[in-house]
Parts: sequence; structure tokens; C-alpha cells
Amino acid sequence: MLLCGCVLAHELTDSPLARSRGEEVRKDVRAQDLMDSAFKTVEGAISVKQKILLTILVVLFSSSVYAQGNKARISFLSWPDPGGGFEQVVADFERENPGIHVEIIKGPTSTDLRQDMYVTSFLAGEPTYDMVLMDIIWVPKFAHQGWLLPLDEWFDKEAMKGFLPGDIGGSMYNGRLYRIPLQTDAGMLYYRRDLLEEAGLAPPETWEEFVEVAKRLQKPPIRWGFVFQGKQYEGLVCNFLEFIWSFGGSVFSERGQLALDSPQNVEALAFMCDLIHGQKVTPPGVTTYEEEECRRIFQEGNAVFCRNWPYQWTLAQDERSPVRGKIGIAPLPHKKGQSSHATLGGWGFGISKFTRKKDACLRFIRYITGPGAQRKLHFRSGIVPTRRSLFHDAGILRESPHYAELFKILLRARPRPVHPHYPRISDIISRYVHKALLRQKTPQYTLKKARSQIDKVIRGR
Ligand code: GLC
Repeated sequence: MLLCGCVLAHELTDSPLARSRGEEVRKDVRAQDLMDSAFKTVEGAISVKQKILLTILVVLFSSSVYAQGNKARISFLSWPDPGGGFEQVVADFERENPGIHVEIIKGPTSTDLRQDMYVTSFLAGEPTYDMVLMDIIWVPKFAHQGWLLPLDEWFDKEAMKGFLPGDIGGSMYNGRLYRIPLQTDAGMLYYRRDLLEEAGLAPPETWEEFVEVAKRLQKPPIRWGFVFQGKQYEGLVCNFLEFIWSFGGSVFSERGQLALDSPQNVEALAFMCDLIHGQKVTPPGVTTYEEEECRRIFQEGNAVFCRNWPYQWTLAQDERSPVRGKIGIAPLPHKKGQSSHATLGGWGFGISKFTRKKDACLRFIRYITGPGAQRKLHFRSGIVPTRRSLFHDAGILRESPHYAELFKILLRARPRPVHPHYPRISDIISRYVHKALLRQKTPQYTLKKARSQIDKVIRGR
């Protein structure tokens, strides 16, 4: 009883979800009533030491009674979600599952910062977040560290067939499944269809055409040619990979050798720098931009082109958006003679090894990754579904006619290097690429330095 009481009391008070003032007050009052009556009965017959022991037992007993009548509360850390899709899906789920309360803890927009927050709670061994809303690139590290529960037992191969294969592939580690895909992502080019049409121009396919169009249609400092994610963080790595692929480069050669400072990669990074400092189609402030800064600039009508993820489409088509009905999407351009590939991104749900509410988590994850919830998330927050069936959904196709183009981009998307030390590798790339964008060092120097540091990480030094 004592042990069970301890666990329940801890679960009740330690959960970040169980901290509403009202509940704590109710619990205190109940415990106090029980204690008072217990003391009245045995007044004078017991010593002070016995009183203290009795107090502890009564508090534990009252906590356990209270906890049994309480809802299971489960939480996850998410991005700010300007569209409000998560709130809607959670409200619908709670209506259908009155015994479970889901708390969305809204974190920062940057994937790196949210990763740090999850890692901090795992290192403390705390169930701060019962579920892990995971970037595709976190899976190898989190699974390798043993911070996630394997999910194969509950989601078998048959169930997995309904999802896009790249998203399932990115949810596995050492042959086991650790994440159920919710949202797929791929980098793409947004353009101002109205401006291009007025000028009688087609969306550019090569970087050469791209620079020409950007220069012709921009009016800096009001309207810039192109914005992308140039801040030092994971988003910059996604952008950098797309640039090097579009110049025929890669991080690893076909034989698996580290090739970060290859001539193609140096040329691609030099081109990125040139967009800012030479061609001047990209504002120098780009070195501080994440996705949301780019989206706001583009949505306000202050950029001709923008590299971003698919979520930008829905938000830019909002009734109050100045560019509503004026935009198009296309694959990112490439160097003449090469082809472009998007970076594969995406999000899904895992379960923390530290949770004490596995069953409630499973129930919620089944619900939110199901077709109905993914559909709602698409309409509210622009999330691209991971369920194959939704790419043929008449409602989605009506609302998002660009899905046909998007599907082509998704099929050609490439993953980032899969490695348990990927976060360290990515950190080195973003640090050095950023230095080059700031013109602190040359592209050649920075990529050589980054290569030698990544080499040490890979060799375990
Ligand atoms: C998007 C992608 C994610 C990527 C992040 C970078 O959220 O889905 O995979 O790591 O952007 O900022």
C-alpha cells in the first residue's frame, strides 16, 4: 500500500499536467479532512512519531483515492502551430475519450530547441513528456539511447502499409519501429505566380534562370528576390543539402566516403553566398531566418521566391493573406545539367520510455495518426499527410490543387544522413555553412574544416 501510494502520489504531483491549482487545493482539503478525523479518533492515544507516520499514510491514501478518480493525463511538446490544428484534434479526441486528457505543451519553433527540451527531460529520467512528437532525424539518436518504447507490438506490418514508405523508413532503427508518422515534409520553391504571369515568365528550372527572374522582379529593400532558411540550425542544413544535391554534390560519395568538401559542394556553397553578397537577390538578414521568418516575408508579399516546407501553402492561402490566390509551387531549381531533390522532413509520434501512461498514449497516437485526424490537421495547419489514401482524397485535392505537384516533389525527396550521431554532424555543418554565408571564411575553407570535424565524429573520436 505504501509503495503503491508513493507511486500514485508521485504520478499525481509530478506530472506537469496535474498541476492545476484547483486540483491541488481539492486534494489538500480532502487530505486535511481525513487527517483531522483520524487524529480526533486516536487523540491522546499515540505518540508524536506515530502521528507523523499516520499523517504520511493518510496523505498517501487520499492521493491514491483521488488518483483513481482522476483522468489519465498525457502530454507532448509541439511547435507553436499557428493554424490551431492540434488543438482541434485534441478536443475531438477528448470528447470521444473522456477518461484521457491530452496536454499540448507549445515549445519554440526551432526543431533544435525542441530536441534539446526532450533530451533534457530524458536525461533527468522524467516523464515530463509522455509522447515524443519527433522530427524524422531524431529517431536514430533517441532510439539508440533507449529513450523510446519500440512500437512494433502495437503497429504491425499491415498497419504500416497505409503510410508513405519514406516516412516509415525514417521511423525505424535497427529493424524496430519507434515512431508513427504524422506529417511528411519536403523542401520546395514557392513563387509569386501573379508576378511571373504579368511578366510573361515561366517558373525557373535552372539556377541561372532563377537568378535572372529574381533580379527582374525584385524591388529591394521592399520586395526581395529570394528568402531561405539561413540561420545556424537544422533548417540551414536542409537548405544546404538541397543546394549541394542540385549541383550534383552530396555529403557522402557513392562509395560511402565523406565528401563534404567536394568541388560540387564548394560550388554550391559559393552560389548560396553569391545570392546574398554578389547577385544581391537575398537579403543579408537571411542568416537569421528560420521557416517562420521566411513565411512571413513571403506572405506579406515581400519576396518573389521562398524556399519552405508544404505547411506554408495553407497559411499563405488564409483569407487575410495578401498573397492568397497569387502563389505557385515548383521543385527547387538546379544547375544546368543536374537535377534537384528536396530534403525529406517530417514528424511523427513516439512514446517516452519514462511515461507511466503507455495505454493512453497508444490510444491517442492511433487516433492522431489516423486518416480522419490527419485530414483535419491538413485543413487547419497545412500538414501534409503520411497516409497514402489522403493523396486521393477529393476534399484535399479540391482545397489543395497543388498536391499533384507536391506528390512529385515528395517522391524525389532525399533523407538526411542516417546516423546515431546525426545531431553532431548536422551541428558541424550548420556552424561552418553559416560562417561562409556571413563571409567569415571561404566556402572551401569551411567545408574542409567541417569535413575533418565530422570525420572525427564518425570515427568515434
Ligand atoms: C521541418 C522538417 C524537419 C526539419 C525542420 C528543419 O520541420 O519537417 O524534418 O528538421 O523543418 O527546420
